Amino acid sequence: MSEAATLKLGDNTYDLPVITGTENEKAIDISKLRDQTGYITIDSGYKNTGATKSAITFLDGEEGILKYRGYSIEQLAEKSSFLEVAYLLIYGDLPSKSQIEEFQSTISRHTLVHEDMKKFFDGFPSKSHPMGQLSSLICSLSSFYPESLNSKQTADEQNLTMIKLLAKMATVVSWIYKKSLGHPIIYPRNNLDYVSNFLNMTFGQRTEDVEIDPVVVSAMNVLLILHADHEQNCSTSTVRMVGSSDCNLYASISAGISALWGPLHGGANQAVIEMLEQIKEDGGDTDKWINKAKDKNDGFRLMGFGHRVYKNFDPRAKIIKKACDDVLDKLGIDDPILDIAKKLEEAALNDPYFVERKLYPNVDFYSGIIYRALGFPTDMFTVLFALGRLPGWIAQWKEMRENKEPIGRPRQVYVGEVYREFVDIDKR
Ligand code: SDX
Repeated sequence: MSEAATLKLGDNTYDLPVITGTENEKAIDISKLRDQTGYITIDSGYKNTGATKSAITFLDGEEGILKYRGYSIEQLAEKSSFLEVAYLLIYGDLPSKSQIEEFQSTISRHTLVHEDMKKFFDGFPSKSHPMGQLSSLICSLSSFYPESLNSKQTADEQNLTMIKLLAKMATVVSWIYKKSLGHPIIYPRNNLDYVSNFLNMTFGQRTEDVEIDPVVVSAMNVLLILHADHEQNCSTSTVRMVGSSDCNLYASISAGISALWGPLHGGANQAVIEMLEQIKEDGGDTDKWINKAKDKNDGFRLMGFGHRVYKNFDPRAKIIKKACDDVLDKLGIDDPILDIAKKLEEAALNDPYFVERKLYPNVDFYSGIIYRALGFPTDMFTVLFALGRLPGWIAQWKEMRENKEPIGRPRQVYVGEVYREFVDIDKR
């Protein structure tokens, strides 16, 4: 007998099916609730509402567990590469040696973007935020590759659209950085792996080949892996929602980039560094700022702390915190805001306000310190988050389309005026 939930409404009783996932998560299936009862449910922020069944990423917020296609984030961060993880998320299995070589080779053939796209770069004011540029530029790819607009693409055609996006986004991100400096862009080098090529386009000089520090390559791979997917977060849900209207992949991902920009979501990594800098300028009194974060009337939040799902340590934050020490040590960098971050963490983890609310450091708390040590400016941090999240967004969009999920269209409870007669303007 399959499990069911019983709902009692007035004199009526309804049985609602319960579904159980492979990690024993339980959900009450309300897909027929309105037809059966005339009622809908309401759940602001979808804190208790599942939007889909997915086989891509599993989180356990209480235990601080994160797995991509069943592989733990700890193993993948230690043993895999970002391109391997992208393959795993999108196609479901870790690639064989020949598969990853083919994947890398195919991506290398599509890293160039249409020369006319450079005209878009020229149109942005020099201090435009990189996330606004990225969202626009990625959506504009649909203009250069109109075949992507066909929602009835074959699997091979859809796969090529995904490959082009994976390949070109790294180029676009590096060009946004170069433009911010007023430096000439660096074209992709097909003999470099995905991350090395990105770093070369970003930090390379046109005149000579730049020696890419293996410490930087390794740290960048880890950071991109840690950001690669995170089940139904705000930006991924946006990608799925936009894609559910049969909208093309480029526009769906562009919408996800916009959602990620918010400081409560991906924009937090930039906000954390700005917060740490502010605390440093203010004399480094972490207790003062912890108290401000606790004061409801203050409006200050401890950026990089708290999470909708993790009510324990974000496993990614643990890995990044360790990588912070390693990378700064190997690069010989002593960044005073790392000490401030550690003092804040220590104070918060021993403060009842944070402990009672289960607020721990999340992926954004330490990541900016590494990005900064690698040479990125603060306003590029969320763009780097987007570059890491891209394979996850693609995988989730692909899964939604393969499962033929319906167009997303939530209901509401109307609480406005019931009826009013129209009044001519001269009588109002
Ligand atoms: C990401 O969803 C994902 O998976 C996202 C992500 C991913 O990989 O895609 O993990 C990436 O977005 C990480 C989160 C980055 N954002 C921040 O670091 C911004 C700071 N944190 C928050 O604003 C907050 O914690 C959220 C947005 C992350 C979660 O908010 P919720 O789940 O809606 O929780 P809430 O705002 O209702 O907070 C619950 C309580 C409140 O206090 P009370 O009303 O109960 O008294 O905790 C308090 C909040 O005021 N609180 C904080 C706080 N975060 C929550 N108080 C001070 N500082 C904070 N950072």
